[in-house]
Amino acid sequence: MRSFPTQTMDRALAPLLSAYRAAESHYRLQPLNEPLGRLFSFAFNTQRPVHRWYMFKEGFAADLVGSFIHEFRVPKNDGLVVDPFSGSGTTALESQFQGYSSRGVEVNPFFADVASTKLRWLEGDVSAIRASIDEVLASPDLAEAQVDQWPELTSFKRLYSESVLSELFRLKARILHTSDPADFTSAFLLLGLTSILELTSKAYKTGKGLKFRKRQLIKDPEEVRERVRRKWLEMLEDISTLRGQHIEPGDARILRGDARSIPLEDGCASLVVYSPPYANTFDYNEVYKLEMWFMDHVTSYEEWRRVKEASLRSHVSLRIGAQEQGDELLEQALSLIEKPARGEVEMLRAYFADMRLSLLEQKRICQPGARVVIIVGNSSYRCVPIATDLILARLAESVGFSVEQVRVGRRLNTSSQQMALYNANDPAGMDFIRESAVILHR
Ligand SMILES: C[S@@+](CC[C@H](N)C(=O)[O-])C[C@H]1O[C@@H](n2cnc3c(N)ncnc32)[C@H](O)[C@@H]1O
Repeated sequence: MRSFPTQTMDRALAPLLSAYRAAESHYRLQPLNEPLGRLFSFAFNTQRPVHRWYMFKEGFAADLVGSFIHEFRVPKNDGLVVDPFSGSGTTALESQFQGYSSRGVEVNPFFADVASTKLRWLEGDVSAIRASIDEVLASPDLAEAQVDQWPELTSFKRLYSESVLSELFRLKARILHTSDPADFTSAFLLLGLTSILELTSKAYKTGKGLKFRKRQLIKDPEEVRERVRRKWLEMLEDISTLRGQHIEPGDARILRGDARSIPLEDGCASLVVYSPPYANTFDYNEVYKLEMWFMDHVTSYEEWRRVKEASLRSHVSLRIGAQEQGDELLEQALSLIEKPARGEVEMLRAYFADMRLSLLEQKRICQPGARVVIIVGNSSYRCVPIATDLILARLAESVGFSVEQVRVGRRLNTSSQQMALYNANDPAGMDFIRESAVILHR
C-alpha cells in the first residue's frame, strides 16, 4: 500500500495553490459554468443522428462544436474547422452537418475508421443496405468462422463465451463475403457490428480499463443477431431522418496522422476544437483493444505495441525514458509528489512536452484571428493537483498564442482515498480537480 501525506500536506501545497490562483487570475478564470460542462460529455450524442452510431465515452457533445462555431462567428467559406485529436469524429461530423469544411486528425486506426464511416452517411442507400442486412442475417450456417481465425489477442477467449464470439466472427465474415469492402454498406455494417462488441462481452469499459461484469448480458448467438439487427436499423433510421432535413453538408474528412505534426497546410484553420487524452494514466488502446483487433487494425502484438507507442504519452504503461524538466508550474507540482510511482514524473513531463509540440503545430495551421478551444481535465497524483488547464494555457502562451480565457465546466472526482485526504487536509486542493475549456486566440 502506497503512503499518502497527511498533516503536513496543506502547508506543503500552499505555495503551489497560490501559484495556481495567480495563474487563474492571469487567465481570467471563469468559475463553474454548468451548461458548458454538460457539453463535455458524449451522453447527448446518444440521441443525435449518426453521432450515436458508436458510443465513445471519452468524446464530447456535438453541441459543444456548434456552440463555439456560433460564439466565434466562424465564417463558412473561409478556412477549416480542425480537430487534431479527432477520436470518434464529433467535431468533423458536426461541422459537416452545419456546412463547414472540416478535418479531423487521429493517430489510432480504429477511431479514424469509426469517424470516417460516420462522415460517409451521405453515401448510404437505405434500401440496398436493408437488403444487405437481410442477406447477412440469413443462412446462419454459411461462412462459419473457424476458431483458428480468431485474433491472437488472448483477451477474446477470456472475455467472450465461445458461441457468442463465433457468432460475432461469423457475422463479420458474412459482411465481408456479401458486400464489397470499398462500399459504404460494408463499412456501415462493420461499424454497427463493432459497436455491440462491448455489450456482448463479459466486460465493460471504465475510465481505467476493462472490468468484468457480474453477469453476462448476451449469451446466445440468436441474441447477438437480434442486437446487431436493432443497431443497424437504428443507424438506417438516421440516414432516412437526415435525408429529410435537406442538409448542405460541408467537406469533412479524417486524416490518419499525429497531432504533433499535423498533416495540414499553414494558416488553413479558422477554428480548432479538441479534447486531447488527459494526463491520467488512461490508455485508450487498452480499453478499445477488442475493437481494434476484431477489425484487423491490429493483427499482432508487435503491431499493437507500435500503435500504442504512436499515441500521445499520457499513460504510464509506455516505457518513457528520462525527460528534461518542463514548465515551472509543472515542476513545482512534480516536486511535491511524495514517492511517485515508477514512470509517473517522466510521463507527466513527456505529456506536456507532447502537448507543447501539438500547440506549436496548431499555431502553424491557424489563420490570424482563429480560436483554439481545448477541453481538458486536470488530475491528481498522491494529493497533488496537476492543473493541466493552467499549464496548457502557459505553454500556449509560450508558443505565441494569447490566452483568452479558462472556463471551468465540471468538477471531477479523484480516487476516494485521495478525496478523503484532500477534504481532511486541504479542501482548497480539490478546486483544481476539474475539467475546463481553455480558449486561445491566434
Ligand atoms: C478524448 S479523445 C477525443 C474525443 C473526440 N473529441 C470525440 O468526441 O470523439 C482523444 C483522442 O486523441 C487520440 N490521440 C492520442 N494521441 C494522438 C496523437 N498523437 N495524434 C492524434 N490523435 C491522438 C486518441 O486516440 C483519442 O481518440
